[in-house]
Amino acid sequence: MSEFHDFDVLVIGSGAAGLTLGLKVADHAKVAILSKNKLNEGSTSWAQGGIAAVLDNRDTTSSHIEDTMIAGAGLCHRDTVETVVEKGRDAISWLVKQGVAFTKDTGVKKDVFVDGDYHLTKEGGHSFRRVVHATDATGREVQQSLEAQARAHPNITLFEHHMTVDLISDRNPDPDKRRCVGAYVFDTQKGHMDVFRAKATVLATGGASRVYLYTSNPDGSTGDGIAMAWRFGCRVANMEFNQFHPTCLYHPETRTFLLTEALRGEGAYLRLPDGERFMERFDERLELAPRDIVARAIDHEMKRLGVDCVYLDISHKDQDFIKEHFPTIYKRCLKLGYDLTKQPIPVVPAAHYTCGGIMTDLSGQTDVANLYAVGEVAHTGLHGANRMASNSLLECLVYADGAATKILSLIETTSISGDIGPWDESRVMDSDEDVVVSHNWNELRHFMWDYVGIVRTTRRLERAARRVDMLAGEIREYYSHFRVTPDLLELRNLVVVADLIIRSALLRTESRGLHYMLDYPDTDPAMEDRDTILKPPRQPLAK
Ligand code: FAD
Ligand code: SIN
Repeated sequence: MSEFHDFDVLVIGSGAAGLTLGLKVADHAKVAILSKNKLNEGSTSWAQGGIAAVLDNRDTTSSHIEDTMIAGAGLCHRDTVETVVEKGRDAISWLVKQGVAFTKDTGVKKDVFVDGDYHLTKEGGHSFRRVVHATDATGREVQQSLEAQARAHPNITLFEHHMTVDLISDRNPDPDKRRCVGAYVFDTQKGHMDVFRAKATVLATGGASRVYLYTSNPDGSTGDGIAMAWRFGCRVANMEFNQFHPTCLYHPETRTFLLTEALRGEGAYLRLPDGERFMERFDERLELAPRDIVARAIDHEMKRLGVDCVYLDISHKDQDFIKEHFPTIYKRCLKLGYDLTKQPIPVVPAAHYTCGGIMTDLSGQTDVANLYAVGEVAHTGLHGANRMASNSLLECLVYADGAATKILSLIETTSISGDIGPWDESRVMDSDEDVVVSHNWNELRHFMWDYVGIVRTTRRLERAARRVDMLAGEIREYYSHFRVTPDLLELRNLVVVADLIIRSALLRTESRGLHYMLDYPDTDPAMEDRDTILKPPRQPLAK
């Protein structure tokens, strides 16, 4: 039996973006926060390196702004970058108030720091030490603290294992005036479809890197929010810019473990199997060049030499320093047979971050009234063609704050919409062909890796486009005949995301930032400041 729930604010996603937004509105509104798995199973919990913010008196916001603009290769929106960077310090102070314990630096003079005496590390693209962190498990610390606050708040109700399937409209016949009034949500443990009605709905569903075979991301990063917003009529931008992190552990049993960029920030080298350091052949910033450059250099060397991986080596640093600053990575590697303090560790690039997403303004507002998007799901203009390390959690915090302010300003004058029917299951049955779903999952992720990966060509993209078309047709048919399952829902979303990535990539006939085309190897100055914007076809109202 379907359950009906009414809230002021429906937050879909329980990572840094969703929890922050929920906490920021909860003193004045009744809030539901949904998570399709357990609360802590998004990317936030896995974040390692830290959060970029200007916290050192010798650093400046203009330096952080310029570094972000440079990494973004001509596509960052300056107003967004300025807003986010300028709010960085407040965002960190707010986290500290929520109980986040960042690593302190006892060895540095106190007057250097604006706030607290935090240890600041460095990552690719940053010209200053400005990444505040909780050893090498920053995300876990942030997630746990925000979760604890959310659990304790009387106005917040948390719904784990509640997977949103689609957004619900007010059925206004004019698509330009249609509002979002809530969402259909699949209770994956009880197996029924619920209706959540709300005055404001927020997509905070994270990224889509699971569309690739190899990724640093948790299983849930399947682009659900992007696909739902697209189906609902929202524009998306810059989907061709999927970031590949240069250094994920290469190990047959573990394909999703990251070795943080902070290792390179603290002096780790990249080496070929024969021990040669190779980054000097690619960029004068060596191992701390922006991520797109480092990932492409590794990809190039692996293909040139026909090797399966390269190596990350910090063994020349003091053992105690390594164990103190990177305890999680040290222990995990040791378990798998590698001693970080003594030997180079095998690494490969893997899909890591979705720079594009649902288009929003500075307050997280999407194209649709009462619908907001915050965090990795959104395209705000901060990252441009390549996100700079540790700017993502910062974006989650700043945009959640902006969206919360806007939502609270409208909540009194918005009402919960009346008439929403239950989910119609009268024409579907249980599937006896789950193999179709698992086969298509694998096929999609394989061809996205092979044809739409770090290095692209028009031909490979066109080949991928044909395959995605075919899969989309099969999945549409499957979806209309069979009862939903979490795997089917994720596959349905991944196909939409793959299509958006490929179409955007075909439109960008140049190489810029993360998008590298062998047949268009140069950057086209005419495409500077030009986002790739896709607009969904206008959907008639479903019967
Ligand atoms: P997430 O934290 O991914 O949360 C998404 C939430 O949405 C989850 O709760 C999920 O259950 C829910 N959800 C998704 N779909 C549905 C649905 N259909 N229905 C209901 N709920 C749904 N960034 C940094 O700035 N610094 C770092 O050091 C850093 N390190 C990283 C290390 C790793 C290994 C990874 C993978 C990422 C890292 N990033 C880092 C990126 C950063 O962690 C993410 O961009 C950020 O955490 C995204 O937060 P979010 O709240 O937008 O989404
Ligand atoms: C890392 O720690 O290397 C990841 C940082 C990020 O993705 O911002």
